[in-house]
Amino acid sequence: MSSCKTPHTTELVKTMDVESILHMKEGLGETSYAQNSSLQKKSMEAMKRFIIDSALAVYASKTPEIFTIADLGCSSGTNSLYLAEEIIKAIHERSWQSARLTSEFLVFLNDLPTNDFNAMFLSFPEFNMKFKAGIELQGGSAPSVYIAGIPGSFYGRLFPGNSLDFIYTCYSLHWLSQVPLGLLDSDCKSINKGKMYISNTSPPAVSLAYFKQFQKDFSLFLNSRSAELHLEGRIVILMLGRRTEDHSDKSTTVLWELLDRSLAIMVSQVSATLGFLFHFTVHLQVAGTKKFSFYL
Ligand SMILES: C[S@@+](CC[C@H](N)C(=O)[O-])C[C@H]1O[C@@H](n2cnc3c(N)ncnc32)[C@H](O)[C@@H]1O
Repeated sequence: MSSCKTPHTTELVKTMDVESILHMKEGLGETSYAQNSSLQKKSMEAMKRFIIDSALAVYASKTPEIFTIADLGCSSGTNSLYLAEEIIKAIHERSWQSARLTSEFLVFLNDLPTNDFNAMFLSFPEFNMKFKAGIELQGGSAPSVYIAGIPGSFYGRLFPGNSLDFIYTCYSLHWLSQVPLGLLDSDCKSINKGKMYISNTSPPAVSLAYFKQFQKDFSLFLNSRSAELHLEGRIVILMLGRRTEDHSDKSTTVLWELLDRSLAIMVSQVSATLGFLFHFTVHLQVAGTKKFSFYL
């Protein structure tokens, strides 16, 4: 396929700006991410035991005085600190039982710079007070918990070398660093026939372009994290995936197709009067399990 020689301005903007504009809806309002993330919370609850056990395994092999945790793609709302709290409680309890005390925890909250970090920081004093009161009510002595915001893309280095004990990332890593290249033909028209994501009408070049971007991003992610984690450290990744290798698997494309149709209707209503042209491409990849085995 020949490449687009003079990319449409909007594609240039999209490919360059994704990391500086992508963010979930801020605040605590009705349409905010904080009020609309119960699906993500359910997956976290389902994976909680596994995540806690992985963090406990790090504690068992290392017993650091200060345990450092990072949540990558934390967004805003209660999901992020929910998992951090569960991990800290489990390690604290284990450390009291074994008399090898880990009494300080440092939690790094990472997301892109436009994330609503303020909401996270504002919620922290109340979170910390309740967390401490919960432990002290049961006669225990609560550990100190510190948080810090780390703005930046996880597709690159975020922390100094060997500085983290445990990393988790939930529902974030399927977002690619950019709209894949190669989705335009030599006339700079979308080869994806007006679709915003891979669909059953997409030519194979579309899913190949998404896969190439995923490979590049995922390798960069893993290389960065391997430099940042201590030797005994661990990472747990919870992200969208699909069981089949069929790139247009309905379970992963149905929502985008509905959105496609809704947007097409909205655009057709305004374009008749304003001559408005619209093109939107999603920078997200739901990879099949075989694609992941490549990295294991
Ligand atoms: C659906 S939210 C998940 C939030 C939270 N982890 C949860 O499970 O509720 C995905 C988050 O990933 C963040 N994200 C996407 N790409 C990112 C990147 N390259 N670096 C850091 N964060 C990113 C988004 O800004 C967004 O806040």
